[in-house]
Order: sequence, then structure tokens, then C-alpha cells
Amino acid sequence: MTDALQYQSGFGNHLSSEAVPGALPVGQNSPQKPPFGLYAEQLSGTAFTAPRHENRRSWLYRLRPSAGHGPYAPYVQDRLKSSPFDAAAPTPNRLRWDPMDVPAEPVDFVDGLVTIGGNGDVATQIGMAAHLYLANRSMIDRVFQNADGELLVVPQQGALRFVTEFGRIDVAPGEIVVIPRGVRFRVELDGPARGYVCETYGAAFRLPELGPIGSNGLANSRDFLTPVAAFEDLERPTEVIQKFQGGLWLGTWDHSPLDVVAWHGNLAPYKYDLARFNTINTVSFDHPDPSIFTVLTAPSEIPGTANVDFVIFPPRWMVAEHTFRPPWFHRNVMSEFMGLVTGAYDAKAGGFSPGGASLHNMMSDHGPDVASHTGATQAELAPHKIDGTLAFMFESRWVIRPTKFALETSALQADYDACWTGFPKAKLP
Ligand SMILES: [Fe+2]
Repeated sequence: MTDALQYQSGFGNHLSSEAVPGALPVGQNSPQKPPFGLYAEQLSGTAFTAPRHENRRSWLYRLRPSAGHGPYAPYVQDRLKSSPFDAAAPTPNRLRWDPMDVPAEPVDFVDGLVTIGGNGDVATQIGMAAHLYLANRSMIDRVFQNADGELLVVPQQGALRFVTEFGRIDVAPGEIVVIPRGVRFRVELDGPARGYVCETYGAAFRLPELGPIGSNGLANSRDFLTPVAAFEDLERPTEVIQKFQGGLWLGTWDHSPLDVVAWHGNLAPYKYDLARFNTINTVSFDHPDPSIFTVLTAPSEIPGTANVDFVIFPPRWMVAEHTFRPPWFHRNVMSEFMGLVTGAYDAKAGGFSPGGASLHNMMSDHGPDVASHTGATQAELAPHKIDGTLAFMFESRWVIRPTKFALETSALQADYDACWTGFPKAKLP
């Protein structure tokens, strides 16, 4: 299947798609008799009365109403955590983790989720969580649904296929996929898969404002791809696992819930190839704050202060004159969870490996390690391309409180502080 047949482009646009010609009602959302006897169902991602520019909803036309299922019962997967993140005391220490191995025993995407940290509260829809996934087999006769928030998935190893109510999305490392709150999906894979997940309990992700940058730049709307409708008609027991107020619940339906034949609206899952990010940076001296690399933002109620931002550090030219080019030393009211998809990050000469992670919480001192600092201060400043790398950050206005697992895993580096030892003292005249 080619991209043109599998996806529609544009972020936040009103899109429509039908897997069977004539399945989509014309001129109204809920006709007395939808085509072919399909069932109309509205999926609302915002309150009905949210302002027009915020309002997100789609109409789904399905083989069976999704209301036709029995009760859910608790499902145990105790490495996936939610607020309150109070099992371990929050620490001001800087933390870094080695990449974790995909286990040898069979584990799918849902069972392979493990939480590193988070903040806020699922009950009041504030905050976020940072998870990893370590999986090696497809979800079989099983789908997942997250009522607690939107999921932004950053594959690091292995390609994934998301089979969703809206259609299929194939992603590989270097791309991301976003699954809105409540959308049901299955993840298929063909080998070991590892990556990162940002869950926003608050507002959904959207493109950042561009201000003086103008009408083009950073992530461009047209490069976001939404699937065309594709459905399955499977009448066999299907496990539906949902995350609800931090707990996991399992219901067994007598059919696949992925039976949406047509849909229209502006709420849908999407993918984005991070190589299409139009990186903007200085052409004179110094460099802008890392917010210049924001791909998507999930805002909070305070303007410019995100519930969580998704920020990348992609390949780019460095041309700044008489400037310390890597990320500078800083302390920040925001809290930063970082991961690395591939290559090396320009502020760390070692210790931050693809698949690994780091956490620099509010007002913790961080920046380049000694080797990176020495190299950057002694470098001849010709134009230089940082290439073959892709780091990213989930940056939140609230402290990211690590889980017990994150603090106790053997992947936690015991000597992270050492990368900032050995700086020679400045010499005054
Ligand atoms: Fe930082």
C-alpha cells in the first residue's frame, strides 16, 4: 500500500475517509438510517462546548455499536504507573538510565510498558507520564484504549504497525505516532521493539505557535499523516484493555472493536516523520532556547507553560560565530525527560546511549559534560553539521517524579554526577 492510499495529510484539519464507497453519510452526522445499517458514534476529545479552535471530535460509522460490551474487570500490569507518583520520594538528583533490554519472554506493547516517572493527576486531567515500551510480539486478539490521556509514541528500535479504529499507521524509528485519548488500537511488530511513550493527561498535543517565525517552519501541518479508514470484521473474542484513572481494566468483547468503516472529523491518530522538521537556529551568534525545537505542545492553562512539550534535537548545521555551540549549562523551572533514538547527543560525550534516558528535574544543574565542554570551547568554529543523531525531550511544567522501578532498576547509572566533575576553575587576572 502506498502512502497516498494509506494516509491523508494535514494537522487538525477536518478529514474524512470511507473504506467502502458510500459508507459516509453526506450532509448530516447522524441520519435516521446510516448507509448499510452502520452505527453512528461521536468520539469527543474535548468538551462539547470547547471553543471552535480547540474543539476536537470525529464521527465514526461502525459495524456494531461499541456500547455493546459487558463489564470490565481489573487487569494486572504493575509496571505501568499513573498519578499519584508517590511510591518514591521525588529527588533533586540528576538521573540517567542505560538502555534496557527487550525481554526474552513473549511480551506485547501493553504488557511491555514500564513507567519511568510522571506528575499531575489523572483525575483532574493535569500532568504527564514518561514510559518506555519493551516488546517482542504483536498484540493478538487484543486492543488497548487509554481514557487517561493522549499517547505520543517515539519508536527507538523496531518498526510498529498501529491498527486503530481510524485505520492503520506504520511507524519506524525516526517517526512518531500520536493516539488520542480513548481511541482503540492494536500494536503489531515483527521483532524486538523498544521506544518511549509520553502520556499527556491534560490537553492534547498540537503544533506550537510560530510568532515571528511566520507561517512556515518547525513541524509543518501538511507533513502530519492521518490514516484512511480501514476496518476488520472479526467475530471472535477480543480482549479490550483500557487504562482508566490509573488502573488497567480488561473486558472481553465478542468481536474486534476495530470495525469503523468510515469516519470524519478533526480527532484522529496521526504520524509524523521527524526528518521533516524544519530546524531553525541562529545564523549569527549564541543560540535560541531549546523551545525552538518544539515539534508538538500540550499546553497548560498558563500561556507558554506547557503541560508537556515534545522537543527534538535533530541533525542540523551549527554556524554560530564566537559561541559555545552545545546546550549551555542551565537550571530551569521546567523538568526535562530526555531520550535518544539514534547517534550521539552534542552535550554528552558518553553515557547517554540510544534507548537510554535522563531526567533533569526543576532547578537541577545540568549541561555539557567535561569532554563536550572542552571540545566545544577549543573547537575551530567553522560551519559544522551535527548528523546521524536524534535526541528528544518531554519537558513539563511540573517535576517528573520517578517511579520506584526507575530508582531501583540496575539500568540507573550510579555515577551520572561524575560527568560534571573535573572542570578547571576559572582563573581571574
Ligand atoms: Fe536542560
